[in-house]
Amino acid sequence: MKVSTTPRGSLIVFEGCDRSGKTTQCAKLVESLQAQGEEVKLMKFPDRTTTIGTLINNYLQMSQELDDRVVHLLFSANRWEAIESMKKTLKAGTTLIVDRYAFSGIAYSAAKGLDLEWCRSPDIGLIKPDKVIYLSVNEQIMSERANYGNERYEKIDFQKRVHNIFLQLQEPYWQNVSADGSIDVIHKEINTIVSETIRDSKVKPLLKLWT
Ligand code: TMP
Repeated sequence: MKVSTTPRGSLIVFEGCDRSGKTTQCAKLVESLQAQGEEVKLMKFPDRTTTIGTLINNYLQMSQELDDRVVHLLFSANRWEAIESMKKTLKAGTTLIVDRYAFSGIAYSAAKGLDLEWCRSPDIGLIKPDKVIYLSVNEQIMSERANYGNERYEKIDFQKRVHNIFLQLQEPYWQNVSADGSIDVIHKEINTIVSETIRDSKVKPLLKLWT
């Protein structure tokens, strides 16, 4: 059997409520890792560019109604359709920075009232992240952003429920980062966490989520 000697890339996932600054921080992180000479690629779920992603996009933008369970499974399928290419990328030594993953899948669907363990099951076996960075926004800031957008979940009470479920999902490889400070201060904190994670996971095997 041929054993790969290429140090693998890390799977870094960002999670948080809507408007917690994930997208900004992901972009800044990719830029600074590239400047440090790391091979890095940015990904985002839902990936709205695929056929499944188009259905999800229509649902989020309220142009289509779908049963809660159906949309939950579509979000999961949207991750599974990316998994082989993610595995290849990581094994080739490229780090993936991923804006939302299976934890969003559970938190948003369970916040609608679906059973949490039912929500977890379709994502069991995805690649386990090396680090989940949870950007937490305090309630004051969340309230100031109340009912801020046009997409389906952008409502304050719903977001508070989502946040509470995210807290239940935390595991030892999660790191909470307060999203209340300045963009640059948050970025610095994240950069330190991620640089350490990339260094430490190079020779570790890729594991499966929740198995
Ligand atoms: P975005 O704003 O990061 O593009 O995410 C779109 C919305 O979809 C956001 O409100 C979170 C929600 N979502 C789910 O409900 N389930 C999922 O599995 C994912 C990845 C996102």
